[in-house]
Amino acid sequence: MTKFSKILGTGGYLPEEIRTNDDISQTVDTSDSWIFERTGIKSRRIAGADETASSMGEIAARKALQTAQLNPEEIDLIIVATGTPDRVYPSTACLLQHRLGIKNCVAFDIQAACSGAIFALSVADQYIKSGTAKHALIVGSEICSRIVDWTDRGTCILFGDGAGALLLGASEEAGVLSTHIFSDGGYEDMLFCPNPQASTEANKNEAGFITMRGNEVFKIAVNTLERIVDETLEANNLQKSDVDWLVPHQANIRIISATAKKLKMSLDQVVLTLENQGNTSSASVLLALHEGISDGRIRRGQVLLMEAFGAGFTWGSALIKY
Ligand code: ACO
Repeated sequence: MTKFSKILGTGGYLPEEIRTNDDISQTVDTSDSWIFERTGIKSRRIAGADETASSMGEIAARKALQTAQLNPEEIDLIIVATGTPDRVYPSTACLLQHRLGIKNCVAFDIQAACSGAIFALSVADQYIKSGTAKHALIVGSEICSRIVDWTDRGTCILFGDGAGALLLGASEEAGVLSTHIFSDGGYEDMLFCPNPQASTEANKNEAGFITMRGNEVFKIAVNTLERIVDETLEANNLQKSDVDWLVPHQANIRIISATAKKLKMSLDQVVLTLENQGNTSSASVLLALHEGISDGRIRRGQVLLMEAFGAGFTWGSALIKY
């Protein structure tokens, strides 16, 4: 049994094309000022026609391997969180494993919408602590632009594409202190993305686009995330002031500000990527972690609270000593 799993390296990838709020306002009835005021988003990245969740995930994963100074064959567990897999099967994790040239490790996907990276982190942490895995690669990779209805101004303004990666390794020193993940399928109708090929007769005319009752989701997200902050600190017997950084899922600046306020944190202690990335679903919290670590803001020994909320509903947090 190992005591902890620890962050060994992180990586990120953003596709080249930038789509600004002004670009979107050419096609739907909205404006840069409305979008920025209500969400905090100014632009998002859009994947190229030849890119997939596994191709973007590979770039992020290779960066994480480089920072961790690990060889691909040292990885014994790959978990990919994605709502936009290359194929229904094989899993994107299997495709990524092949791209990385790894032969003998377990690889599978997790589907928990925007909370996917926290779910993957939680599972990988258990694998490592139980001694089943030594080095785990977690990837969140999303091409949200392909499941967004670009004529729906309530959703198309929010999402972007990208991939984030995190390498966890077994350690006797403190690392992941605790993870907390939850699901409630009772909210299925508030936020969903149909799979037309597998639909029943009654739903067969549904298009495969994100459908969301944004305002209702917003309120539940704020309340749920405030609750999970308390639960996470309580489980670790820590105070709000013990947390150095909030690394949140990037859905809406107003949701993030409410969580920061609950933690009595200023926005200077929050890693924000939302403005130029939008909501990259399961990639967002990993992209934010990578940004905070690679620009030197997050330092070894500091305590990070990662959290996310998404379709399902699913939600979760991870408290980590970096
Ligand atoms: N531009 C201009 N006006 C708009 C736009 C737009 N892009 N979108 C909506 N409006 C209008 C509406 O039609 C409405 O007009 P009305 O008052 O005349 O009816 C008005 O603005 C207010 O609409 P609301 O939906 O109440 O606006 P709100 O302030 O809630 O902002 C938003 C909408 C940004 C979508 C917000 O609700 C939100 O961020 N929701 C949460 C998203 C989220 O966290 N999702 C979970 C993760 S996603 C995942 O898991 C896949």
